[in-house]
Amino acid sequence: MQVFPVSKKLFIKTYGCQMNVYDTQRMSDTLKPLGYETTADQDEADLIILNTCHIREKAAEKVYSELGRLKALKAPREDGSPGAMIGVAGCVAQAEGEEIIKRQPMVDLVFGPQTYHRLPELIRELEQDRLAKEGAPKNKKAKKLRLVDTDFPVEQKFDELVPETHPEGPAAFLTVQEGCDKFCSFCVVPYTRGAEFSRPVGQLIDEAKRLIDKGVCEITLLGQNVNAYRGETAFGKTMGLGELINEMADLPGLERLRFTTSHPNDMTDDLYEAFRDQPKLMPYFHLPVQSGSDKILAAMNRKHTRQSYLEIIHRLREMRPDLAISGDFIVGFPGETDQDFADTLNIVTQVSYAAAYSFKYSPRPGTPAVNIDDQVPEDVKSTRLAMLQELLNAQQEAFNASTVGRRMSVLMERQGRKEGQLVGRSPYMQSVHVEGPARLVGQIVDIDVTEGK
Ligand code: 5AD
Ligand code: SF4
Repeated sequence: MQVFPVSKKLFIKTYGCQMNVYDTQRMSDTLKPLGYETTADQDEADLIILNTCHIREKAAEKVYSELGRLKALKAPREDGSPGAMIGVAGCVAQAEGEEIIKRQPMVDLVFGPQTYHRLPELIRELEQDRLAKEGAPKNKKAKKLRLVDTDFPVEQKFDELVPETHPEGPAAFLTVQEGCDKFCSFCVVPYTRGAEFSRPVGQLIDEAKRLIDKGVCEITLLGQNVNAYRGETAFGKTMGLGELINEMADLPGLERLRFTTSHPNDMTDDLYEAFRDQPKLMPYFHLPVQSGSDKILAAMNRKHTRQSYLEIIHRLREMRPDLAISGDFIVGFPGETDQDFADTLNIVTQVSYAAAYSFKYSPRPGTPAVNIDDQVPEDVKSTRLAMLQELLNAQQEAFNASTVGRRMSVLMERQGRKEGQLVGRSPYMQSVHVEGPARLVGQIVDIDVTEGK
């Protein structure tokens, strides 16, 4: 017999990248049929999931201290209901596995990014175990059930998941590709997300149609190496990202497309052509370079050079002259000298970025770069990061200033904090603040830009 309360509350805390945001939504979709409604208040949650990120810094330590804070919510409630069940999901769960339960025995469930389609099964098991123990005599110290599922299963989670139910707002994410075969020497992603996999075209078109039916007009296609997308069509052919973008752009009601994140070695002609020919593809391209030094790029196992990156940017700008470029940078990779860092500053100057993300190198357990002897001292990393960010911020401000006086189409995403204010996105991913009525949320409106910062 299965007995489930009618309504239960779910709270998921999301760390890290946009794919985790997407995964969080899909997790809550899978739990709806079991009666779980999402709540913004973790104190009232029956199930709390931390969807974790392992990319940088002391990610695992942060998760353990967050778990420590959640302990109080495990106690039975005043109304007699049991305390919250606690799950750890995402890349820290994948990397740490069993260890999490060893260190924090109050955790009920640990599952990785490739197994969350099995979440309903796992939760049912835990619920039934709880029910069974409620009836058991108190002195019989029954062992608490704890579940760990960090396989890379043969079945594909996307074939098993229930259809998604809730885009929040007019702009949505859609994972089209997952995993990474690049093995940059600093990065945990190939270990936590597994091998590259592209979802079939038909499945993605169906998901996009459902999003559009719910009012979405902008979709960001997600993948760890999204431009390595090679999806199967119904006719047994494969399609690249540019072709997929064109297919999606034909869907009535879809006005804008974006994609992230890309690797320089996966550029294909169809993607360049999409920037030239597909007006629904927004003129913004996130193409990480990480470093401007060929020596460091080789040590990072990036398998591209400074020059090959610059050639890509040049060709992209030929295709789409107004293209805004953004990038990721790492400073203080082992062996980085002042000259290597100067090469990074110099490539930034050559490219001129509209936006960027920059980080101090963070040694990740299990990645090859941890074993390089020549680690850069923390204070040097900090100084370099500050210098790089100063340059990147100035470029971003200059880019924003260059759009003043222009008329741009802005997708109004939400109401602002101030009464009567709306927040939207320009084609170039700029956050745009305007005065306007709430009914404009979800619409694309022409805006004259008066100020940029
Ligand atoms: N240290 C610092 N930054 C890292 N990134 C990935 N791994 C590390 C690391 N070990 C950065 C890269 C990547 C972005 C998602 O995170 O710049 O593009
Ligand atoms: Fe990590 Fe490199 Fe793969 Fe990007 S391409 S996810 S940085 S290994």
